Order: sequence, then structure tokens, then C-alpha cells
Amino acid sequence: MCGIVGIVGRAEVAHRLVEGLKRLEYRGYDSAGIAILRENGVNAQIERRRAAGKIANLEAAVAAEPPRGRVGIGHTRWATHGAPTVSNAHPHATDRVAIVHNGIIENYRELKDELIAKGRRFESETDTEVVAQMLTDYLDQGMSAEDAMAHTMPRLVGAFAFAVLFADRSDILVCARRSSPLAIGYGEGEMYLGSDAQALAAMTKRISYLEEGDWAVLARDRAAIHDASGAAVERPIRTTELSGALVGKGNYRHYMEKEIHEQPEVVGYTVMGTIDANARAVKLPKLPFDPAQLSRLTLVACGTAFHAALIAKYWIEQLARLPVEVDIASEFRYRAAAMPKGGAAVFVSQSGETLDTLAALRYCRSQDQRILSVVNVPESTIARESDLVLRTLAGPEIGVASTKAFTTQLVVLASLAIDLARARGTIDRAREMALVDALTHVPSHIAAVLQSRARFKALSHKLAEARDVLYLGRGTSYPIALEGALKLKELSYIHAEGYAAGEMKHGPIALIDEDVPVIVIAPPDELFEKTASNIQEVIARGGRVVMFSDAKGIERFGGTGIDAIATPAVDPFVAPIVYAVPVQLLAYHTADVKGTDVDQPRNLAKSVTVE
Ligand code: AGP
Repeated sequence: MCGIVGIVGRAEVAHRLVEGLKRLEYRGYDSAGIAILRENGVNAQIERRRAAGKIANLEAAVAAEPPRGRVGIGHTRWATHGAPTVSNAHPHATDRVAIVHNGIIENYRELKDELIAKGRRFESETDTEVVAQMLTDYLDQGMSAEDAMAHTMPRLVGAFAFAVLFADRSDILVCARRSSPLAIGYGEGEMYLGSDAQALAAMTKRISYLEEGDWAVLARDRAAIHDASGAAVERPIRTTELSGALVGKGNYRHYMEKEIHEQPEVVGYTVMGTIDANARAVKLPKLPFDPAQLSRLTLVACGTAFHAALIAKYWIEQLARLPVEVDIASEFRYRAAAMPKGGAAVFVSQSGETLDTLAALRYCRSQDQRILSVVNVPESTIARESDLVLRTLAGPEIGVASTKAFTTQLVVLASLAIDLARARGTIDRAREMALVDALTHVPSHIAAVLQSRARFKALSHKLAEARDVLYLGRGTSYPIALEGALKLKELSYIHAEGYAAGEMKHGPIALIDEDVPVIVIAPPDELFEKTASNIQEVIARGGRVVMFSDAKGIERFGGTGIDAIATPAVDPFVAPIVYAVPVQLLAYHTADVKGTDVDQPRNLAKSVTVE
């Protein structure tokens, strides 16, 4: 994940920017840079120092030619689209502004076309540079920095955080956040900015967090914060309790809560790591097998990762017309599975250390299968024993319950499905572009779901009293039903079962009565009508339905008294990624109501490295 730091200082800032970036190293990166405003009378100049690789390389560049100045920004970049080179490293700049950015500007292509048509010249392929050029365009029209920002923000679509330095304003920094966190630090006659309190802990303990859609102008003695509508707002200043722990909880009560809310940001990174946004095409490393020659693909995982693999089965079979076998590792490793000659297997694992999954991998290796893994920890054992690793860019996941790892696994697997289909010639270019566009919009859809968190909190009070809960879904919503049940079980200790909605009439419907809440995942896809019939069957038997669908789907059940929370209207292809978040929020808040140990539920470990 990328990291941002900024200082409007009374003294030189270069060294402190680099120190702030060091405190963000835990987020993972492969290039870094700073931009400082060198004041020399009227024509102050923006100076950049950028380096690929570790921050030590940036330190050397700064030491070789120290940029002087009291206002600056810094960035650690995790390369998603565009190699980890100096030219792709942030800050990106024009002669009038420098900017550092986390996340995705989803509509950057049309904005870039508009700016090119106005004569603006670009030097990089990044979406970040579009914001720098747009701000510069407004400044060239005579706007102030504040007005340029006020005009730019509403034009941007996506999940992002950014900080901007203006060449003619040595008194301010401007910043904005939409789904990616950003903290403001209050100093003595100085102001600071960071991706989290960790970046600022060495300079101040007085922190306030920007909220969704906020943007702010930082001067040395104050922070003028505006909400998404542009209205001036205040955000509480608190004293961070950061004890130097590398990964803090920020302003969240639990790591799991923080990680649920990091999803727009990290899903955005992961999307940008698997697609070429300019070409609207999937861009994965060369696969260690020829997809056109495969007779079958095997997917193996445990727990939440297994649910991701189940969803991948639907995607790969529907798009690539390739038979897929999915199994839980603890069964697969002992059943002497018959493997196709010259076949391939995919192992999905957040930790990359789950023993059952590793054992299954080694079995497949012994059967001369090509090995692909989808992991979050690049130097893990499963990664090291794979022929190819496809990375989830979720950053460290501390909460035992897997959340952001799951949604980023789905992004990687969705991209793999598209890649396989393209290689097997089962989708055309238009279909590929449509699927890639759908993936690009997922971060802002997840951000929209997170806006309804108060609704999930209210619902959780009802769920917390239940003894048994049923989750239902069809198609790619069926594994989400399984995942929702797992989340509720492992976090709140309430018994829950996930079922294929069509399976209800084959037995589970006998469980239905007014004491058994039934959570139905019903995105607007081709199976919606079937799922709607299942909802009617539950209502007819006095069952308590909680429905997750879009506004149109929920409208169908107006007046029936069911509980429902609307999810944005999304492309059915990406529905399981977006609908994972409601079941995560419901489980989190229910566990919080019950007072269980959300980050360390009883009997559970983050990585199961035993049999
Ligand atoms: C998910 O919430 C659980 N913590 C658990 O099922 C987990 O997904 C499983 O143990 C697999 O872990 P891995 O992804 O690290 O292999």
C-alpha cells in the first residue's frame, strides 16, 4: 500500500519527510519520493527527489543534493500499474503543483482526454498526473489554490487520498480523502499530514482524521477543513495513543474495523496491479502454463480463501469455459486426487503459510502440476514454492477474520478468469473492456456500502439475540452466503449456516420460524427472480428476512416488513466482491454488540500452521 506524508513547517522539512516515510514502510512499497518548495524570493520552485527501491536510495538522493524548503510532501509507492521506476514514482508535478496520491481516479481517462484537448501535455501514464494537470489548468485560469481544489474535487470519481504542494503558496498544503485514510497532525506553528498517525507520531500526538469526502487547506497555524459539499467543518483533535506499534488502528476501535474500511483503498491498488487502465485490459504476468491446452484447473484453499476460490470457479467456467475443481485443502491433501497430465493448480492464501494449503500444493507439485498462488505475503512459504505468485495488495491484515484479504483475492481471481478467457478466445475485446471497467468501479461501490455502516449497526442489535442464522444466495452469491455465515460464527459465536438458496426446499426450510433470521444476498443478476421466490417462501413461513440487494430489488419487497439494506447497482460480474462488505459489516457489528474479542476471536489463529 502507498504512504503519504506532508509538512507545512517553520524549519527545513526534507529530513522529517523521509523519517515520516520510514514510519510508513510497513505498508509495503518499491519506490519513494519527496517534493519541497524552494523559496527564493518571488519565483519559488518545486524541487523533487525520487528513487526506486528502498528509502535508503531516496535518502542518498536527498543527501547528494539536499532540497531546501519548509513546505513539502512525500510518498512511498507500491507499484500497481507502471513499473517501480523513478519516472513512475511520486510526487508527480507540473511547474505549478506537485502531488502525491493513494488509490484510483476511476474517470481519469476522460479527464485526461479533456485536458489534452485543452493543450495540456502529460509526461506519465499515471492517473495521478491528471489531478496535477487539472489543478494547474484551473490555476492558469487565474483561480486560487483553494478554488482550484474546490473545482477539482467534484470532477474526480474513485477511492483516493492525495496531498498537493503549490509553487506560489509557501504557506499551505492542500489534501483530500475519499475512502483512503488521511490524518492531520497539529504542531507548534506547523501542520502535518500523513496516511495514518504512525507517519506523524514522531512530530506530534495531536491528530485529527479527515472523513469521507473531506478536503483541507493546511496553513502553519490552522487547518481549514471542508466536507464533500464544500462546507467548512471541524474534525475532532485527539491525542493518538500510538505506542510506536508499527501498524496502529488509526481512529478505529478494532483492526478488523480498520481493515474493512481500508477495502476501497487496497481493492483499488489490487485492481491497478492486475489491469492496464489505459488499455482497459487485464495485465497479469505470463502464466506458467498454456490456458488453451488446459483440460481442467484445480483451486485449493481453506476458510475464507476457499470461498474466494468457489466464486472463481463460477467466473472461470462461465468466462473461459474451462472446467474447474475446487476443494478445501484439508480434504484435498488426503484424497489422492487424480490430476490431469500437464495440469495446473491455484492456491489461495492470505498468510501463505496455512499448512493444509501448503500440503495440498506439495501434493500437486508431486503430480507434476504447474503451481500458481494468490497470496498477500510475498515472502511466504506458499509463495516461495509456486511457479507464479499473483499478489493481493491488501497490506498487513491483523484481524483474525479475513476481510480485505478476501475482497482483494476476488479481484485477483476475477482478473485471472478474464486472462484465461482471453487466452482461450472465449471472450472478445469488448467483453474484456466491460469486465475490466466493472472491476475499476469496485472501490467506489465498496465506499458507498461503507456509508451505510450505521444501518448495519442497527441491524446487528437484532441479530445479536439470535441462536441460529441462515444465509442464502445463488450463483456467485452462494459462496458469499457461506462467507457471511463463517464471519458471523467466528466473530460472534452465533451458529450460522450458508446455503444455496435453491437448496432451501430440500430440508433447511424446516428450520424457518420467527426466531431464525435469514440473511439473503440478492444482487440484481439473472438469478434475482429465483432468489426473490425463496424470500417469499421464507416470509410465508413467518421467517425474519434481512435482504441485501440494490434499491430496485428491495422495492419489490416494500410493505412486507423485511429488513433490507441497499447496495449500489453493480455489474453482476463484480457483485460478490461488493456484497462481501455487507456480510463483513453485519458480522463485525454483531460481534461488537456481543462484546466478543473481535480481533482475536476465541480458539482462532490468524494463520493455521498446524494440521
Ligand atoms: C477467515 O476469516 C478465517 N480467519 C480463516 O478461515 C482463514 O481464511 C483460513 O484460515 C485461511 O487462511 P489463509 O488465507 O491465510 O490461508
